[in-house]
Amino acid sequence: MNQAIENMKTRRSVRKFKADAVPQELIGQVIEAGTFAASGHDRQPWAVIAVTDEDVRRRLSQVNASFFDMDVKDPFYGAPVVIIVLVKKRTPTYLYDGTLCIGNMMLAAHSLGLASCWIHRARQTFELPEWQEWLAGVGLDMTEEWEGVGHVALGYAAGDLPVARPRKEGRVFYVK
Ligand SMILES: Cc1cc2nc3c(=O)[nH]c(=O)nc-3n(C[C@H](O)[C@H](O)[C@H](O)COP(=O)(O)O)c2cc1C
Repeated sequence: MNQAIENMKTRRSVRKFKADAVPQELIGQVIEAGTFAASGHDRQPWAVIAVTDEDVRRRLSQVNASFFDMDVKDPFYGAPVVIIVLVKKRTPTYLYDGTLCIGNMMLAAHSLGLASCWIHRARQTFELPEWQEWLAGVGLDMTEEWEGVGHVALGYAAGDLPVARPRKEGRVFYVK
């Protein structure tokens, strides 16, 4: 099978990571692949922040867990890297663009032997004043309105990749 298609079909969301650090070079490759995603009018309205700092990662985990109404230990499943994707909210296609950026990164990660999982609740996190302040500290242009699209938990899988569930039937149509 074509390698790119094989990669798409074998990528899985991983929910158990080794603590091993990911080389910066690989993190860079994953992010670069994300920034090559298609976007409406090629506006590339995203900002991507890779967090490996343990304290920030812990605080991201805590705030993410706070949006659950049950006890969650670490919504990032121990992944050593958390990649945040935000998009300029005033861009008409911002949500589609940000989503595609994340999709590219997850596929790139898999092709490099890395594991990933989309972790939600970025919108809620980056609506909080303290996290808005943090974004300003990172260097984002805060004259823009940024919305968190998602996080990518990134690292090395602890154990085998999960097996994909069967694809739903009756969802694909050919009109010839
Ligand atoms: C928009 C979106 C949000 C998601 N949020 C989470 C999340 O917060 N936590 C999580 O463990 N998985 C999350 N996932 C992963 C999905 O649960 C996963 O993609 C789905 O179960 C299919 O599994 P697969 O990715 O292995 O094909 C999210 C996926 C998407 C696309």
